[in-house]
Amino acid sequence: MSAITLRVNGAEHRLDVEPQTPLLWVLRDSLNLTGTKYGCGAGLCGACTVHVEGTAVRSCSTPVSQVAGKQIVTIEGLGQNGLQALQQAWIAEEVPQCGYCQSGQIMAAAALLAKAPNPSDDDITKAMSGNLCRCGTYDRIRRAIHRAASGGAR
Ligand code: FES
Ligand code: FES
Repeated sequence: MSAITLRVNGAEHRLDVEPQTPLLWVLRDSLNLTGTKYGCGAGLCGACTVHVEGTAVRSCSTPVSQVAGKQIVTIEGLGQNGLQALQQAWIAEEVPQCGYCQSGQIMAAAALLAKAPNPSDDDITKAMSGNLCRCGTYDRIRRAIHRAASGGAR
């Protein structure tokens, strides 16, 4: 075990954990932030996506020691000052079906919009291709990203 400082959603946490523990399990089990989901555990599905210093990262395959001291944002932190345009667009487009993949989808989309505020279809395809949805909500995800980029109107 070693003492690690994590900065999650603006709060600092001092934790005793094995350095190789995946960030996902520290978020879920130690910090009780269960909005970030476990899908494949191998970096292949995107269900566990969070932001580290503004970049979308697979928390299931990121050792916690790698992100010590860095700014981490989870789905719980994304809307902590009121729902983001993206979250409102998700509601307006009624994107989720079972919902399991959706926090990862929103985190990936938020990282995309932070870098490309008005993304093309190609930008969206590229940025979102690693986030799988077994319910097939891909068209609604695309519409919601365009809606958020255009300020809510479509
Ligand atoms: S659970 Fe992390 S990519 Fe699938
Ligand atoms: S909404 Fe069910 S897996 Fe995406």
